[in-house]
Amino acid sequence: MLKAKIAVLVSGGGTNLQALIDAQKSGVIKSGEISLVVSSNPEAYALTRAEENNIPAAIVSKKACKSQQEFEDKILKQLEENEIDFIVLAGFMSILSKTFIKKYENKIINVHPSLIPSFCGEGFYGLRVHEAALSYGVKVTGATVHYVNEIPDGGEIILQKPVKILQSDTPSSLQMRVMRHAEWIILPQATEMVAKKIMKSKRR
Ligand code: GAR
Repeated sequence: MLKAKIAVLVSGGGTNLQALIDAQKSGVIKSGEISLVVSSNPEAYALTRAEENNIPAAIVSKKACKSQQEFEDKILKQLEENEIDFIVLAGFMSILSKTFIKKYENKIINVHPSLIPSFCGEGFYGLRVHEAALSYGVKVTGATVHYVNEIPDGGEIILQKPVKILQSDTPSSLQMRVMRHAEWIILPQATEMVAKKIMKSKRR
């Protein structure tokens, strides 16, 4: 069976990348294959995870680029050279331009650590999202996987999973529970759903 060629874009620890790799091994992801990892950060531990699993990886250092355009052009070059069909943003800490997104319309998804439309958009990333949820005092948070469009965290929602907040939670403990009980589950599921859809439309 032909599979969608997936690129996973990362910037940090890569636990979501790991969840995708594990899901591919266990058969949760079967319509796509992780063919490339692109990291915006040369120090990202996600790169070690790619190496340990024999997945080709490229570093496109955001800091080393003079402009957003140069950064995106370098990423696009990698995607094109590797004939990528589908892009998964897994802890990728940059907002992509409209021009970039247009090139892969309905072919980019992102995992966000809250129940969108709460605690999302520009400035809400990583631990900051959980700090905001705790300081607001919500009793339930969670994770969302959504299509990426020109509005940060504004694209169509694919899957969401709620996680209860405990009185003893700190931003870090909450981050870990949201990852374990939501992100690492729904990101692989959504990746399979979209990969399947992309392959179906390719066959037409
Ligand atoms: C994850 O919690 C992910 O949802 C979040 O960063 C973390 C990356 O962890 N992404 C965002 O906040 C994007 N707005 P990981 O590198 O271990 O997957």
